[in-house]
Amino acid sequence: MSEEEKKQLTQDSLLDNEAKAAVPLQWEDGSGKEQQAASSAPEQASADRSLTKTGEEMANSPGDAYSEVPDSVSATEKRKAKLGNSRPYRIIKRILKIAVIFFALLSIFVAAAGAFLLTSQSAVNDNYQITFYQVASEKINQPFRIVLLSDLHNNVYGKDNQPLVRDIARLKPDLIIMAGDMVNSYEVDYHVTTDLIRALYELDIAPIYFGYGNHDLNYFLNTSMDVESDLAQAGAIMLRDKYETITVNGNTVTIGGLASSTQIYDKYSSPRFIQRFEATEGFRLLICHRPEFFLSVFDEKTPLNADMALCGHAHGGQVRIPGIGALYAPDQGFFPKLTEGVHTIGECKVVISRGLGGRKWQVRINNKPELVVIDVE
Ligand SMILES: [Fe+2]
Repeated sequence: MSEEEKKQLTQDSLLDNEAKAAVPLQWEDGSGKEQQAASSAPEQASADRSLTKTGEEMANSPGDAYSEVPDSVSATEKRKAKLGNSRPYRIIKRILKIAVIFFALLSIFVAAAGAFLLTSQSAVNDNYQITFYQVASEKINQPFRIVLLSDLHNNVYGKDNQPLVRDIARLKPDLIIMAGDMVNSYEVDYHVTTDLIRALYELDIAPIYFGYGNHDLNYFLNTSMDVESDLAQAGAIMLRDKYETITVNGNTVTIGGLASSTQIYDKYSSPRFIQRFEATEGFRLLICHRPEFFLSVFDEKTPLNADMALCGHAHGGQVRIPGIGALYAPDQGFFPKLTEGVHTIGECKVVISRGLGGRKWQVRINNKPELVVIDVE
């Protein structure tokens, strides 16, 4: 075979392979018989492929013999494609994508946190915990125990508050202190509180001292109802800007009750009452419903000259956020400082109860009601 013949044979072979590599196309003829496209040339294969093009391919193939897409639509598609590839468009698309992912993750986190808080045992307002504190004082010879109740708001635990009465009796306190808002000023009926005081009084556990909260004081200031007499008749010693000096386990203790708020403190005789109280002998204990007094009137600059103050009012901040603390308290606003626990302000130990109840619409989250026990040593 001559060189010319070999060259011709190689070219024929290449051409033949290219035709074989072409995509084999299938279609059904009129008789339904399947046939194999066996084109031997690339041009033929191309022509055959065009017969099976989809609408999408046709739209993307302007000028194709089989395309029925108008030129104007093709131009729009082109513009869209151009816009889709532009840099600002890609940036906006990416930002939107990140925002969607961020809000999706945030929604999942909020839902999970809400579910945790609402299913947490502490979220339920139908039981209370007993919280114990120890407070040391050089004035004390023999330790004594205080049980502190606050902000019951006519709430009832079990039948007629019997579990509460049993717990208080079992704790064997030397003093029972009620630090205000045991009743609701918007309710005419406050038998829950008078019944509780009477039950405790009849068991003769310890003397019951009652300091005024804003709700209790509201009866006195704004109604003709004689709540003070009713609570006193039930067995409580009512301390409205008053104090008493008694002996508790061999210790001289002066118990005072401050009735006013920071807003009306100067308008009534409260400053004079506090002056007299601060001059008394022995261990000075002030029932002061509102803890915000210790952020203004009795703050670090002008501290109360007392050994201990017992407060409520803040209801623990209603919602307690893990790692952050209380969310809101009246007269302290958002993220209040004084809502629970023991705080030292000046020489005074300020003990704040989260309370035993609240208005019915006030939700507590992660903030269990509490009965506070203080061992003074
Ligand atoms: Fe309250």
